[in-house]
Amino acid sequence: MLKKWWHNTIGYQIYPKSFQDTNEDGIGDLKGIIAHLDDLADLGINVIWLCPINKSPMKDHGYDVSDYEEIDPMFGCKEDLQELILEAEKRGIKILMDLVINHTSSEHPWFQKALKNPDGEYGKYYIIKEGKDGKEPNNWRSIFGGSAWEPIKDTNLYYLHLFTKWQPDLNWENPILREKIYKMINGWLNLGIRGFRVDAISHLKKDFSYTNLPPDGNDGYVNGFPYFSNVNGIGTFLNELKENTFQRYDAMTIGEVDENLPSDIFSDFVGENGYFSTIFDFCHAELHVNSAQWKNKPIAFIDELKKVLFAKQAVVKGKGMLCNYLENHDLSRVVERFIPEKEIDFYSKSMVGGINFFMPGIVFLYQGQTIGMMDYKKETIKSFQDPTTFILYEEYLKSGITEAEALAQINLKTREHARTPMQWNANPYAGFSQVEPWFGVNPNYNEINYEAQKNNSHSLYAFYKKMIALRKSEEYQELFIYGDFIPKYETESGIIGYQRNLGNKSVLIINNAKSEETALPITEKIKKVLISNYNNDILSNESIHLQRYQFVVLELDSSIK
Ligand code: GLC
Ligand code: CA
Repeated sequence: MLKKWWHNTIGYQIYPKSFQDTNEDGIGDLKGIIAHLDDLADLGINVIWLCPINKSPMKDHGYDVSDYEEIDPMFGCKEDLQELILEAEKRGIKILMDLVINHTSSEHPWFQKALKNPDGEYGKYYIIKEGKDGKEPNNWRSIFGGSAWEPIKDTNLYYLHLFTKWQPDLNWENPILREKIYKMINGWLNLGIRGFRVDAISHLKKDFSYTNLPPDGNDGYVNGFPYFSNVNGIGTFLNELKENTFQRYDAMTIGEVDENLPSDIFSDFVGENGYFSTIFDFCHAELHVNSAQWKNKPIAFIDELKKVLFAKQAVVKGKGMLCNYLENHDLSRVVERFIPEKEIDFYSKSMVGGINFFMPGIVFLYQGQTIGMMDYKKETIKSFQDPTTFILYEEYLKSGITEAEALAQINLKTREHARTPMQWNANPYAGFSQVEPWFGVNPNYNEINYEAQKNNSHSLYAFYKKMIALRKSEEYQELFIYGDFIPKYETESGIIGYQRNLGNKSVLIINNAKSEETALPITEKIKKVLISNYNNDILSNESIHLQRYQFVVLELDSSIK
């Protein structure tokens, strides 16, 4: 594999609204991120991905951009971003922005002009079609629920929105629009941004050879993914995008693709000449999103996860790298998904954190993950903020369940759990702000906060720090980036095990997802315990003895391989 600067990335995703407020408006801001750069450098990360900070009416918390050239005043200004880039660089950290180019906000001037004159120049920036028999052009369902089409007042026209109705889809078939987008991207790269996480990118191309399809739900709509996800011809757009922007700046790019990326086009996306450096795929995350069946079932979950993760490694082997992430701003906190409440502690949290940390791929951590922040279940639906929560809630009610049951469902899975303010210390509002934050702080901040963990060598934070230091260390970095991946103990239920080999170095990684001790056979000699979340003696009589939820990284003596 050709070596790239971003191969050694230990990424950290920031949700700016909830990271640190500095001007007492209850909303996180860029100055707040600058204020914590020393903390992030202490953790050891070297790339930050900022969720959207462009000007936005915040219907989808910034994933609805109304001005691509500007920073939203709630976060600060361009000078703040420049300062952030400079200060981060001093600490060896590069900044990536979120790039939302599948759609704009409905308040974007382009869309406002399109509404006024759908047949004019700006009408061609969006996907506007005639209705049929007084109804939508077709029965596609929006990814967030309801019709994917919204009527344009006083006309027979509709515009397409794959997400909320405040996020009209851009028409990538229009070369004038594409040029404007490239120019905008290059503007940010010229400012010193080192790359982007590229939002919802697999939806850029739409197939309009459709009529109504048989509905797949009681709402009369149908999941139209085959018509707007990785559609044939998308590669032409993605290549052009790369060649006109990212490639010229040696930028790092992470495409957000949906879970169905066929394996035969993986290398088109992440190969040496791929459209992106790497991708966030949903394969392992979807396990949870689509179903709550794993709740309280660590062993079943780990067995399924193992299958998915190992299959992905087999697909990308020798072609490129995926991102090893567990949490982000669209998911609940990882331990909540499958570890029984009574068993959530330092051991289970650290074991979970290790699951894919040392696999081939680019590590991405989400804010709060390294201190073990948890879901904050709400007592009323009004305490939530996100339109997707309310759409889902209405759907639950329509299906006939009670309000209490619907709320319980929301509490189980809502993506908003990841968006509670960062818990820095035990001061009011967890040190996030001096005033009441825009979104409720999890009341557990007295126990779970950064300050309580940063100087405690037995904390989860210290554990993550150790894992990062090992992955980045001169001695092992190459092994973890480029080493072979060899599954181990594959049929052993509740265990994820694999070996990484490079040259004469060999490391064995084992996660025990069982709440009881376990012994595994081993024929190789262990040279050194590089990481363990216990201080036990693990070796006796050619077997490894693991405690409940133990996680170990062991260097093997390769001379006797
Ligand atoms: C991505 C983002 C999500 C957003 C959606 C629409 O999936 O991660 O937060 O709502 O795109 O932009
Ligand atoms: Ca603020």
